[in-house]
Amino acid sequence: MNTDNKPAIAVSNVLKTFAGKHEVKALESVDLAIAPHEFVSILGPSGCGKSTLLRIVAGLTPYEGGEVLVNQKRVTGPSPEIGVVFQSSNMLPWLTVGQNLALGAKLRKIPEAQAAPKIAQLTEMLGLKGFENNHPHQLSGGMRQRAAIGQILALDPQILLMDEPFGALDALTRDKLNVELLRIWQEQRQTVLLVTHSIAEAVFLSDRVLVMSGRPGRVVREVAIDLPRPRMPETIKQDPRYGEYISELSKLMGVY
Ligand SMILES: Nc1ncnc2c1ncn2[C@@H]1O[C@H](COP(=O)(O)OP(=O)(O)OP(=O)(O)O)[C@@H](O)[C@H]1O
Ligand SMILES: [Mg+2]
Repeated sequence: MNTDNKPAIAVSNVLKTFAGKHEVKALESVDLAIAPHEFVSILGPSGCGKSTLLRIVAGLTPYEGGEVLVNQKRVTGPSPEIGVVFQSSNMLPWLTVGQNLALGAKLRKIPEAQAAPKIAQLTEMLGLKGFENNHPHQLSGGMRQRAAIGQILALDPQILLMDEPFGALDALTRDKLNVELLRIWQEQRQTVLLVTHSIAEAVFLSDRVLVMSGRPGRVVREVAIDLPRPRMPETIKQDPRYGEYISELSKLMGVY
């Protein structure tokens, strides 16, 4: 458990090159530090290494040079304190929603009776009640994504890594899920590192937004988002600072 103010995630001088016929230098000297309970988003051009960075922090991809610490321990492989929501759903298609949500507890040999209340609460909270017996392909895109997030939250991760979790959704569903995600985070205060292509989403959700350069990716800028919490779209979107942060980040991203 992280009880002091040392970073929950600390990445220093990390390099990553994918070897092969077409060698790709994906990351170069990446530095970042995320405080416990902080909500941080990463923006950057496509192919700059955002997913690679997330996978490195999750212990799923080896790295060269530098160091990655999670709760002050060097990352050497996946760990139960970290939950990852990938760019595409990680649910098993042959299991029902209920079985997918219960999968983590099953793999950890947590008795069903002990895991059930938490799973029921998540099902309710994510608006999936009544769909427990459906398979992932029988859900809408938004529901599938909510279920995928639920599957990870069911594991009670202290650290939540999310790779464009809402990328494939329409704007309205995305806004709704953003609000749900903030509500969950407000309650459970995981440390969150979220990759997104949406500047507005990054501003709405985050305490801090990191901007990466083109490949090889590095963190080149950071913007602290000083907007009050709890955040609701109708109030935040009227706050003049919201628009200012979006313009500032759009300029940094070279949008205009
Ligand atoms: N397993 C791999 N083997 C070889 N090259 C890889 C591998 N994974 C990623 N790459 C390369 O590393 C670079 C960074 O990829 P990555 O997926 O991290 O980018 P990204 O910033 O997440 O992009 P996007 O925004 O499009 O999702 C790309 O050039 C990609 O081709
Ligand atoms: Mg990616």
